[in-house]
Amino acid sequence: MHVTDVKSSSSQAPRLNSASMFMSVFLPIFLLQPAEGANATISCIDDQGNAVDWFYLYKLPRPHEQPPEEGLKYLLLEEQSEGWAEGGGLVGDATGALGRSLGPLYEDGELGYILYNDQPPEQRRVDDTNRGGGHTKGAVLFDSRQGFWLVHSTPHFPPLKTKDKFSYPDSGINNGQNFICVTYPLERFNTIGEQLKINQPHIYDCDIPESLASSVPSMAALCKHRHGPKNSTLHASFSSSNRSVALLSLGGTQFISFAKGASFDNDLYHSWVAPALQTDLLVQFWRRSTGILPSDCSASWKVLNVDQLSPGGRVTFKTTEDHSKWAVSVAGGGLRGGAWVCVGDINRNMAEENRGGGTVCRQDAVVWKAYRAAALECESCTGEVEKCESAWLYN
Ligand SMILES: *[C@@H]1O[C@H](CO)[C@@H](O)[C@H](O)[C@H]1NC(C)=O
Ligand SMILES: *[C@@H]1O[C@H](CO)[C@@H](O)[C@H](O)[C@H]1NC(C)=O
Ligand SMILES: *[C@@H]1O[C@H](CO)[C@@H](O)[C@H](O)[C@H]1NC(C)=O
Repeated sequence: MHVTDVKSSSSQAPRLNSASMFMSVFLPIFLLQPAEGANATISCIDDQGNAVDWFYLYKLPRPHEQPPEEGLKYLLLEEQSEGWAEGGGLVGDATGALGRSLGPLYEDGELGYILYNDQPPEQRRVDDTNRGGGHTKGAVLFDSRQGFWLVHSTPHFPPLKTKDKFSYPDSGINNGQNFICVTYPLERFNTIGEQLKINQPHIYDCDIPESLASSVPSMAALCKHRHGPKNSTLHASFSSSNRSVALLSLGGTQFISFAKGASFDNDLYHSWVAPALQTDLLVQFWRRSTGILPSDCSASWKVLNVDQLSPGGRVTFKTTEDHSKWAVSVAGGGLRGGAWVCVGDINRNMAEENRGGGTVCRQDAVVWKAYRAAALECESCTGEVEKCESAWLYN
């Protein structure tokens, strides 16, 4: 995998040093490392500072009566890992995967970015969801070559650029949260912008520099009309029902983005994702809302609600403590389809049938195993809570 990255620039240091004493003495040290704020390449970056093609991050819920720090622990799944691995620190650390990836946003240097969240950082009322627009959360950052799309479930995150510093909000501590970061070449961001447009995001901060706008007109338009959903004329042009597209990452990994708008008016998972991927799905989503959709065994592909989880087998918790929205194939293959994992921002409830949002999916045995093993108990279509294996057998 050749990702132009932070790793390759830092790995030059030992090579230069051993190659020539002369060089190492006379090369100014700052040439060996990207200077702070200079245009470092934008990429998903892991806990060690390596630029990576993708990662999945699971912020674990804070166990009852434990200090807040316990609610900042996370698991990371990246290339070459065999499953969920303990995060290097706490999720709000600038030196963690999220802090490092989003870091360039808070430095000088020319980059394009769009931050969107139906629960934006500046708005912290109890009932603070923007009910008119999409139920969708994420961040897009790119430079003239590449960047990443981070899709997540955390309210009031990430901070605006003017905050000058990465941080993680207190409101995201108690519940579990999920993140998918994928590094893409610049060309892909125009397609991503078209998907976002369908999702009707609430954009709370953005900038697409003139020099990048012609490469990504969809992003430029989104940023320019960021108050779009509040403008009914514009709203009409934002209301394409749904679209799925294949997105090839910078490193050559295939992802599929499913995006729906308000007019889709149906359950994302049962009506679309499961039949499109030809797989039965177990879906983890936030259960503490009204109008929850029950598990659905109608039609050819079943969709079951997850009830109890244990990502990485570290701690076991109920779905009521997990704000994540992800779906996993019941099986790793065979007649009922298999090995898919989707991470996104839509819950299975009636209100969100009429809200924009979506999910990013991928078929991979290792990622599948990590997510599938996390789903312990599920709700069967007869309403019983069972081990997911047996719940799935009922009709
Ligand atoms: C990189 O930095 C140089 C000098 O600061 C600037 O002229 C250029 O536009 C930057 N490029 C990007 C892609 O940010
Ligand atoms: C709404 O958007 C349309 C199309 O871009 C624009 O012509 C109109 O002036 C906007 N209205 C308001 C109130 O911003
Ligand atoms: C929109 O969703 C429906 C399922 O509701 C699906 O059959 C159709 O292919 C989707 N359209 C696109 C363009 O992906």
